[in-house]
Amino acid sequence: MSDDITYRHRYKAGNVGDVWKHAALTLLTEALPARPRRWLETHAGAGRYRLETTGEWTAGIGRVDAAGGDRPASIDRFQALASAWRQPDAGGRYPGSPLFLRPALGDADRLTLVELVEEPLAELRTLFADDAVVEVVAGDGYAELTARAGDVDFVFIDPPYLVREEWERVAQATIDATRAGACVALWYPIKALSRPNGLLARLREAGVPTLALDLITGDLAKKKKALAGSGMVITRPPAGLAGRLAEAAAWLGPVLAAGGEWSLRVQAWDA
Ligand SMILES: C[S@@+](CC[C@H](N)C(=O)[O-])C[C@H]1O[C@@H](n2cnc3c(N)ncnc32)[C@H](O)[C@@H]1O
Repeated sequence: MSDDITYRHRYKAGNVGDVWKHAALTLLTEALPARPRRWLETHAGAGRYRLETTGEWTAGIGRVDAAGGDRPASIDRFQALASAWRQPDAGGRYPGSPLFLRPALGDADRLTLVELVEEPLAELRTLFADDAVVEVVAGDGYAELTARAGDVDFVFIDPPYLVREEWERVAQATIDATRAGACVALWYPIKALSRPNGLLARLREAGVPTLALDLITGDLAKKKKALAGSGMVITRPPAGLAGRLAEAAAWLGPVLAAGGEWSLRVQAWDA
């Protein structure tokens, strides 16, 4: 696991990938049916991140903040949450996925956050110390998901993708959890389309009902392996979600591309 230990999400917090991930996650939580639910995030991170004066966030949430014009309603909630946590009296930090998930939960819900690495784990424990709805678990997110198969309604999978095998692990975890009855959200980085395409082909072959939206705001042809965009897969997608996500992407695309080209690729299939 030494490859995972070198990963520190704080250097990426608020970047283009985080913006699409967290905007999509916020819309998804709004679209889920309202009933007591068991939620699990397999790779939770630290929960919130201090943004330095420079960093990848300037081309991500920084551009969203600076954008003029009317925002569609589908962006409002994401932006309100992202902005609220960065106010000085709320700690002045960019929120991680647990803080975008948490407002959607009721008192009867349970959110389990799994994190493997000590430093983000300690921060996560501090953040949710007084929250009876949230359980923070130390360990491997995939193992925890397997152990709770059939016992979770919603899963979010967001690993570091430091090794190629991660693409196979996310595919298998998504297939298994969906077959066990969960709605799964899975985020992936896009530097080239080959690995995302392979992942989506695996899900299609497995007969997992899927909605996938790839938002590309950078140059896919660049030799240097820079992040060109990211994708969100949602299995067992709630009704009406695709349209809301497409509306959000249509606003975010030109904002994040900052005058450059952008594109949205939507794919969907039933079992
Ligand atoms: C991309 S970050 C998560 C960011 C977070 N989901 C968010 O959006 O704010 C991936 C996290 O997974 C953790 N991690 C790496 N391998 C793991 C594993 N096998 N199980 C659980 N967590 C792991 C890393 O320490 C890191 O904090």
